[in-house]
Amino acid sequence: MSADKRLYIKTYGCQMNVYDSERMADVLRPLGYALSETPDGADLVVLNTCHIREKASEKLFSDLGRLKPLKVEKAEAGGMTVAVAGCVAQAEGAEILARSPVADLVVGPQSYHHLPELIARAARQNGERVVADFEPEAKFDALPKTRRTHGPTAFLSVQEGCDKFCSFCVVPYTRGAEFSRPAAAILDEAKALRDKGVREVTLLGQNVNAYAGEGGDGRWSLARLIRALVQQAGLDRIRYTTSHPNDMDDELIAAHGEIAQLMPYLHLPVQAGSDRILRAMNRKHTAETYLRLVEKLRAARPDLALSGDFIVGFPGETEADFEATLEIVRQARYASAFSFKYSRRPGTPAAAMEDQVAEEVKAERLQRLQDLLEAGRQDFNAAQVGRTLPVLFERKGRSVGQLIGRSPYLQSVWVEAGDALMGEIAEVKIEAVGPNSLAGALALSSKEAAA
Ligand code: 5AD
Ligand code: SF4
Repeated sequence: MSADKRLYIKTYGCQMNVYDSERMADVLRPLGYALSETPDGADLVVLNTCHIREKASEKLFSDLGRLKPLKVEKAEAGGMTVAVAGCVAQAEGAEILARSPVADLVVGPQSYHHLPELIARAARQNGERVVADFEPEAKFDALPKTRRTHGPTAFLSVQEGCDKFCSFCVVPYTRGAEFSRPAAAILDEAKALRDKGVREVTLLGQNVNAYAGEGGDGRWSLARLIRALVQQAGLDRIRYTTSHPNDMDDELIAAHGEIAQLMPYLHLPVQAGSDRILRAMNRKHTAETYLRLVEKLRAARPDLALSGDFIVGFPGETEADFEATLEIVRQARYASAFSFKYSRRPGTPAAAMEDQVAEEVKAERLQRLQDLLEAGRQDFNAAQVGRTLPVLFERKGRSVGQLIGRSPYLQSVWVEAGDALMGEIAEVKIEAVGPNSLAGALALSSKEAAA
């Protein structure tokens, strides 16, 4: 079918949502929907929402409000269907349809493979409500085998859901129980990506290192899956995110030292540095066990770039507790990090805890933490100057002949390089460090240098 309908997708939140948005576009492409950069004149608008912190639903309702005039305008010309997808749809589906006349349908993260039927049903009757009570496995089986790729890197979802129930977090409720895709399906998807020129794949899961997918001879660990991806799918680079410290087993730690294609970058959230707060968060690890784990990882892969997530102002957090978070940051030495003010999520145990921390205190602590994290990031970046690193070129830079790529540590690197290198990996000598990126020059290969 020709692409005669326009689809606009807005993605909020995490990489899993980015993956889901791409897959929604894949599901809708056979129906004639082509992606559009703006919602103006779109036949279908999908808002792929995130529920992790507050203001998510306020943001959604203001976006829905902004779509209203566009929807009215489009009414004469075939109409505009508005679908709310993602975790807010999952958590607040009924409320969305009750409150907003703009939303035509809601679809949770486990059911978007049903979008074609839902759109048809919504066209017949206003306000079709669908919740995600489908198995994630059914979703993955139903998704098209072909994916559109966007350059040499891609996300690949291997695991969904979370059984950890950290006391602040909605994910176990919105994304459901842990589920791992079978290894064969992941290998097939990876091979198809490789055939389209993808060199680097980031394996996604809310708890990706708890991966335990059926491999034909029993359940496979994430380390085993990574080995198979390198051997069978011929990927040049593999990353994975997000991991819980307690699922970081010895096999996976060893893989960081043994598999050259496994990039030396690890997102391993600790959330806080005080054992008392970690206990209240139901993290089931201490600051000490986390630091010992980081030590083991660095013994396996000394140049590992560590990344993390932090929450400040969890209920009951004292100044001393917060100091312990600063201390773990100093000790673990992060190359990058994400930090947030604690946000009270209805239905989670922490929302009902006493001693909620005042907003000004949270803001002040966040600033101090971010200053420290930023200094660490700058130190890590500065340490790369003078080194020669393999860079995978992903996109064009601002000026002619400039390409932007990624170092093994996930840093953006600007290089004067011909377009022919797009999608390729080349050695780059890092020469300078900017606020958010590195700059370098193509290193001569030994053959070129000899000539
Ligand atoms: N408040 C603040 N941050 C949160 N996160 C998850 N839930 C909350 C919350 N209620 C953060 C955690 C997690 C990241 C994805 O979002 O740090 O690792
Ligand atoms: Fe949320 Fe904790 Fe699960 Fe991460 S491990 S998704 S923070 S419950």
